[in-house]
Amino acid sequence: MSRTLITSAIPYINGIKHLGNLIGSQLPADLYARYLRARGHEVLFLCATDEHGTPTELAAAEAGRDVADYCAEMHAEQARLSEGFRLSFDHFGRSSSPQNQELTQHFAGKLDENGLIHEVFEEQLYSVADNRFLPDRYVQGTCPNCGYEHARGDQCENCTKQLNPTELINPRSAISGSADLEVRKTKHLHLRQSAMREKLDAWIDEKSDWPTLTTSIAKKWLHDEGGIKDRGITRDLDWGVPVKKGGGEWPGMEDKVFYVWFDAPIEYISCAREWVDAGKGDDWERWWRTDKGADDVRYVQFMGKDNVPFHTISFPATIMGSGEPWKLVDYIKSFNYLNYDGGQFSTSRGRGIFMDQALGILPPDYWRWWLLSHVPETSDSAFTWENFQLSVNKDLADVLGNFASRVTKFCASKFGEAVPEGGAPGAVEEALISRLSEGMAEYERHMDDISIRKASSALRALWVAGNEYLQSAAPWAAFKEDPERAACITRLSLNLIRFYGVISAPFIPDASSAMLSSMRAEDAEWPSNVSESLNTLRPGHGFSVPDNLFRKITDEQREDWETRFGGER
Ligand code: MF3
Ligand code: ZN
Repeated sequence: MSRTLITSAIPYINGIKHLGNLIGSQLPADLYARYLRARGHEVLFLCATDEHGTPTELAAAEAGRDVADYCAEMHAEQARLSEGFRLSFDHFGRSSSPQNQELTQHFAGKLDENGLIHEVFEEQLYSVADNRFLPDRYVQGTCPNCGYEHARGDQCENCTKQLNPTELINPRSAISGSADLEVRKTKHLHLRQSAMREKLDAWIDEKSDWPTLTTSIAKKWLHDEGGIKDRGITRDLDWGVPVKKGGGEWPGMEDKVFYVWFDAPIEYISCAREWVDAGKGDDWERWWRTDKGADDVRYVQFMGKDNVPFHTISFPATIMGSGEPWKLVDYIKSFNYLNYDGGQFSTSRGRGIFMDQALGILPPDYWRWWLLSHVPETSDSAFTWENFQLSVNKDLADVLGNFASRVTKFCASKFGEAVPEGGAPGAVEEALISRLSEGMAEYERHMDDISIRKASSALRALWVAGNEYLQSAAPWAAFKEDPERAACITRLSLNLIRFYGVISAPFIPDASSAMLSSMRAEDAEWPSNVSESLNTLRPGHGFSVPDNLFRKITDEQREDWETRFGGER
């Protein structure tokens, strides 16, 4: 049995995610995980919250909360919303876990042993009143470019100019407001990525099956502007993984933590250990250590395009630099951006639809279907309420939902609530089965390739095929003249509901289980042969008419939601 390790980029802890975040990694990763499980693969699907960094400290401070409490609460909230969207993580971990702290320090120690860490002295602003060095974002002042008085040390929000904290006019501490700042020298650690350039280059060259979008980003970082730079991996913050090596002290680094982008990807590994420690699994090393069986694992990562450099360069540099047999990624699936009604989704401005709001108005399958069938795969795509309404009403309600309800209601009224017997399939049925068999092969091919838009079209085409069959075979018309013929059509159609329940589950898990339970299907095995699969429910097998699987979105609702979600949160 083949084994696949799947990770989704881990979402930042500060705030509830919007639908653009969801479709940018977690949801496609879930689709793939569900598909592979259904095909009988052994899957470990991991995700977590990305909890460290300045934005987290600032968000907690703004909420007047202790940062650890804030993170614990936001983690629980994100976990609840993930469940709401039916994201089937085997574990949803936390980058602030003790496991990740230990492993991050372990990696730093190994990198240091291997001569891949440089200690560097940098000039940085020190706040005498706060008794600490200030990270860029903790310095405020007047923008030298536009005169905005609340510009931050990394960027002016008003004119968007990138800044250095020392360029600000009248700089002051964002913590205390004190202007008593001095430039002092302080020690930081740099990871010598430049020393690993050839190794990384050769590794990327092996990845001929990766999309060029991915490999070209990696190549650009490796070669442009004089080649790959060493990277600072420490920060002056309280909240983060303390800088130590393998548990031991790191002289001169007592008040520092690792940079969030250093510890976050390591959480992919730590999360597997958290999964075991939570009693959900018994061996994490067979997924992550090539000396403990992970050689057989195929490792697939999902992420937005802005994350690609960290996953093709920085994290592999950490892993390779350790000199230890950790599993490297085999395939990276990356996405473009989803826009919202002519603009961008924005967490900081509260623009768009957020996960909690989405679930407040409609069940998860409606969102999953629209998002997955419009995933920004080859270019950016845009959410509009009109298109959402159209796609839900057409694909889900008119095609799939209507099929299930027509067939079950017709059968219940003419033959009763059991699969009818009599009649033998003829040429029309044969034609349908060959159309479905070809369609299945296409659907599976696209799912295997993680070609999500194409897979969703192939699935929709399978639903359409059943609908067209039912429409033209018209059992309601046949019933009067030839009830045996009507029974045959109905029997096949009831089996099709079960079939759809099985094959649609990766996209719309709730509706799929409603279809399966209304058909009282005990066997939900992936069809290896369409003809046999459509013979599963035998004459006499009882079923019940399902509740309306999908409700149409009315124009009124659409207009209401358009206004409600048009502004800022
Ligand atoms: N939190 C980051 C983002 O949302 C992703 C981190 S992915 C990891 O862009 F590799 F660092 F884990
Ligand atoms: Zn400015």
